[in-house]
Amino acid sequence: MKTIRLNDGTHVPAVGQGTWRMGEDRSLKKYEVAALQRGLDLGMTLIDTAEMYGQGGAEEVVGKAIKGRRDEVFLVSKVYPHNAGGYALLESCEESLRRLRTDYLDLYLLHWRGTFSFEQTIGGMEYLKSAGKIKRWGVSNLDVADMNELMACNGADGCAVNQVLYHLGSRGIEFDLLPWQRRQKMPVMGYSPLAQHGFLRQELLDSPALQQVAERHEATIFQILLAWSMRDGDVVTIPKAIGITHVEENARAAELVLSADDLSLLDSAFRRRNEAAARCRLGSTDNRITEALRDSSGGIFKVFLRASVALRLTVPSPTYPLCAVRTSLTYGRWWPYSFWLFWPPLRYCRRLN
Ligand SMILES: NC(=O)c1ccc[n+]([C@@H]2O[C@H](COP(=O)([O-])OP(=O)(O)OC[C@H]3O[C@@H](n4cnc5c(N)ncnc54)[C@H](OP(=O)(O)O)[C@@H]3O)[C@@H](O)[C@H]2O)c1
Repeated sequence: MKTIRLNDGTHVPAVGQGTWRMGEDRSLKKYEVAALQRGLDLGMTLIDTAEMYGQGGAEEVVGKAIKGRRDEVFLVSKVYPHNAGGYALLESCEESLRRLRTDYLDLYLLHWRGTFSFEQTIGGMEYLKSAGKIKRWGVSNLDVADMNELMACNGADGCAVNQVLYHLGSRGIEFDLLPWQRRQKMPVMGYSPLAQHGFLRQELLDSPALQQVAERHEATIFQILLAWSMRDGDVVTIPKAIGITHVEENARAAELVLSADDLSLLDSAFRRRNEAAARCRLGSTDNRITEALRDSSGGIFKVFLRASVALRLTVPSPTYPLCAVRTSLTYGRWWPYSFWLFWPPLRYCRRLN
């Protein structure tokens, strides 16, 4: 298995395993555990989870999957922004450890930016590190402006990764964040590499360019997507799969090397639209909104979403409208989130998660 070097010298597999949507349905748990274990057997020993996934259910699944194999695993979990400071951070970490049946995390990420200051989050993360609860910490869904702000804080050099949306159909980070992280020697952890989120899932699947490259390598389009996202050797990719065949294909994708011809074919098919997106200089959260915009058909809803992007309002927890109510109350600053209360079509909220 190819590996990626973190800035403290630790090597992690280039292809890990995501767990979002796991632990939500009891009847699927045994398949989820089996899939993660098969992935471990095949060298995909980095597992990414979060307290948010299945409201802790995914961490429980992971806990079962790694039982007796903790030493093989590079375990990543994430804290909700509204828990990312003070006592709440320590408590969240303890809860995650309990569900994961372990006494340390290899990497603990701030899931997205909230109202705790970066100083508070860094302080808590460093405390957890000194207490042996986590080995290192990082962030997720931060754009360049956020990262610059983070880096200005004391202790920010401890930040190991930034986990962001990245796949062939969603290449916005290539224009600013990816080069910025390269300069800092901070690897990107690319989520939704199979375009579960982001632009163009169907277009990717129908793309003649992708089909041609897949045929050249006798691989599936999904394997090409994975090989593409780790082509430069500094992006960790974390596909989620429950299907055992999917897991096996994903592990094999680490062996694929795309040629210059393959890459230029894919670039010519998928560059333009991304350049247009990048010109808007949208951050990750805004990108999520834009993704919904692209697919949305409701005119008034579009106007609200466009307005929110224009005003650069952020969405604290786009999971469900109820979450929006809770975070609005928690944050005290209710007005930026109010449209989620009044415009809660579930299908958009699910898409935005
Ligand atoms: N930090 C964040 O805010 C954030 C946001 C989103 C995701 N993530 C992380 O990134 C992980 C991956 O992203 P994701 O879950 O959004 O989606 P994804 O990995 O892009 O896609 C997952 C989907 O692709 C299918 N799949 C997997 N391997 C396949 C293969 N070889 N061939 C065909 N289909 C395949 C899976 O099906 P089966 O499950 O049926 O096999 C599932 O439906 C998440 O699980 C999570 O850990 C983080």
